[in-house]
Amino acid sequence: MSQEDEAAATRRDVAAVESSRANRGWWDRNADDYQQEHGGFLGDDRFVWGPEGLDEEQAGLLGPAGDLKGRDVLEIGAGAAQCSRWLAAQGARPVALDLSHRQLQHALRIGGELRLVQADAGALPFADASFDLACSAYGAIPFVADPVRVMREVQRVLRPGGRWVFSVTHPIRWAFPDEPGPEGLSIAGSYFDRTPYVEQDEAGRAVYVEHHRTVGDRVRDVVAAGFRLVDLVEPEWPAWNRQEWGGWSPLRGQLIPGTAIFVCERDQ
Ligand SMILES: C[S@@+](CC[C@H](N)C(=O)[O-])C[C@H]1O[C@@H](n2cnc3c(N)ncnc32)[C@H](O)[C@@H]1O
Repeated sequence: MSQEDEAAATRRDVAAVESSRANRGWWDRNADDYQQEHGGFLGDDRFVWGPEGLDEEQAGLLGPAGDLKGRDVLEIGAGAAQCSRWLAAQGARPVALDLSHRQLQHALRIGGELRLVQADAGALPFADASFDLACSAYGAIPFVADPVRVMREVQRVLRPGGRWVFSVTHPIRWAFPDEPGPEGLSIAGSYFDRTPYVEQDEAGRAVYVEHHRTVGDRVRDVVAAGFRLVDLVEPEWPAWNRQEWGGWSPLRGQLIPGTAIFVCERDQ
């Protein structure tokens, strides 16, 4: 979860507007630290689905890499657009969208021939049926109060049959403390409690928000937006990866899943 120490953490309801405002500010303030801390692991032009290090190059969740050439791909919550850079190297035509101006400045710093768009995933500034594929590696979906709205927007801008693949914190993690060590192995709360995790300032204003959905909620969200669920991938922690990322660690990764990747297709 967040790295901002001075904010007080709590669980409370948060409306969509407050959530979006808080997260935009948080990512603008913390983008430099985030890229400094995780940029090496992410690589400038790798497509990594999460802290386990599962690479799209091996996983092929968007389809075989050889089929990406000439495809229009929307990356949502792209951060510094590392995944889009990998897609461009396969010959795809990616558009990297993010809410945070500062994250997109890091995309510019790293460089490459990419189209960058600053927008909220809940209101995509594209015409209907503009893209063949859409993807998101931990971008936007864990941070929005109304994920169905985002899914419907993705469905709208995809062409019929288009694939939508997104990764999020595995829902089971919400029942455990967000700690990489042994203290992160004992259940501390209800998996069924959907109350958002919120960090707030002294005036009680949210400065960072994450939203919890159960596995069943996520399945219902994609189906409600007009997608078919093709696969649910739970990457196992590989032996080569000794790196901790917040509450994700080799210790916990050997025992419980840390990431869920939903592979969906737009109905024809
Ligand atoms: C954990 S980062 C993931 C970025 C990139 N895939 C990576 O692995 O570094 C989450 C990204 O989602 C973006 N984000 C959060 N809420 C969003 C929203 N409502 N719309 C678009 N992007 C959003 C943040 O600005 C941030 O860049």
